[in-house]
Amino acid sequence: MSPAAPTSTSGSLLFRPIQLNTLELDNRIVISPMGMFSASADGIPGDWHKMHLGTLALSGAGLVIMEATAVSPEGRASDRCTGLWTDEHAAAMHDVLSFCRRLAPAKFGIQLSHMGRKAGRPVPWKAHRQPAEGLWDPVAPSAIAYPGNNVPHPLSKSEMSQLLRAFADAARRADDIGFDLLELHSAHGYLLHSYLSPHSNARTDRYGGTRSARMRFPLEVFEAVRAAWPSGKPLGVRVSATDWTPQGWQLEDTVAFASELASRGCDYLCLSSGGSSPEQRIELSPGYQVGFAETVKTEAGITTMAVGLITTASLAEQILKRGQADLVAIGRAALANPRWPLHAAVELGEAVGVAPQYARAFTQLPPRGAGS
Ligand SMILES: Cc1cc2nc3c(=O)[nH]c(=O)nc-3n(C[C@H](O)[C@H](O)[C@H](O)COP(=O)(O)O)c2cc1C
Repeated sequence: MSPAAPTSTSGSLLFRPIQLNTLELDNRIVISPMGMFSASADGIPGDWHKMHLGTLALSGAGLVIMEATAVSPEGRASDRCTGLWTDEHAAAMHDVLSFCRRLAPAKFGIQLSHMGRKAGRPVPWKAHRQPAEGLWDPVAPSAIAYPGNNVPHPLSKSEMSQLLRAFADAARRADDIGFDLLELHSAHGYLLHSYLSPHSNARTDRYGGTRSARMRFPLEVFEAVRAAWPSGKPLGVRVSATDWTPQGWQLEDTVAFASELASRGCDYLCLSSGGSSPEQRIELSPGYQVGFAETVKTEAGITTMAVGLITTASLAEQILKRGQADLVAIGRAALANPRWPLHAAVELGEAVGVAPQYARAFTQLPPRGAGS
């Protein structure tokens, strides 16, 4: 159920705790998942992740969500993206998470993903040294290439069953590692979104055609993950609310998908958009996807997370005050300024604790005891 907009007259809403399933977050600021393309060639995280996530653990955000992490080797965006398909990956991820937890009290989530027909692309800053058409042949619901990528292999029913197991196994590993929250990536044209969208799904079996048939595989993945992930731990889904094309997935489809997810125990939806078709025409402006979070929150009655060009504390606060979303995810603004939440606290006059080592930079905030 979506919580009602908090009604207090004093104190900001951004720094009001929120409960997701049995997890309590100190505030409503989430660091959005952001792929770093910095794992080993086998998808194992390392020093970069410790440095990057450790910094964000000290940011003051209530929740940090680790980057899109693939459930199988061919599901990675590039050969340097993180994965969680073996116990070796889990051990390295555990090392990263333990390092962060020793330094700061932030809660940590992980995003599980399969990039489908957009997998196997070069690392962005090495694109000139790698084959333009992609590093391996991708898989997808149908043999429809994302323009510029290799034509994907259409998944058979038994390959889809293997993927269900891969998602569930990765969810179990994420729980064993100690993540507090799990998010399924069903946005940006990647595998689960590619089943939903008419741009990429032309199947003629039970998994294509009508909207409910196109939703079937993503819902099966959700069910498999919900069964593998503890019932008390929050499980959310990131979706593209619209393909931004007349023929594609629309906001009303997202509302229907959200209702199906909510009835299966989904704890929140993060509303992003686009990624299915190069013909998309996105209307960018501050908070341009917030309306999607508001519609889904109102019409499907599910907790929502807003994301996209939310760069100021005042906009984040306004989104919550208007009851448009329950949580606010910050992406690039947190890369540019990893202490974004602490600056937001100062701006909103909130006395949130700061690591004592940084207290002299935030004289308006009280030092907290931990983090020595
Ligand atoms: C470097 C980078 C990597 C990203 N990787 C992911 C990812 O792994 N998973 C995901 O769902 N979104 C990813 N995104 C999208 C962000 O999570 C976020 O939705 C987007 O940047 C818009 O929010 P912003 O305007 O606050 O940056 C990435 C964005 C950036 C800039």
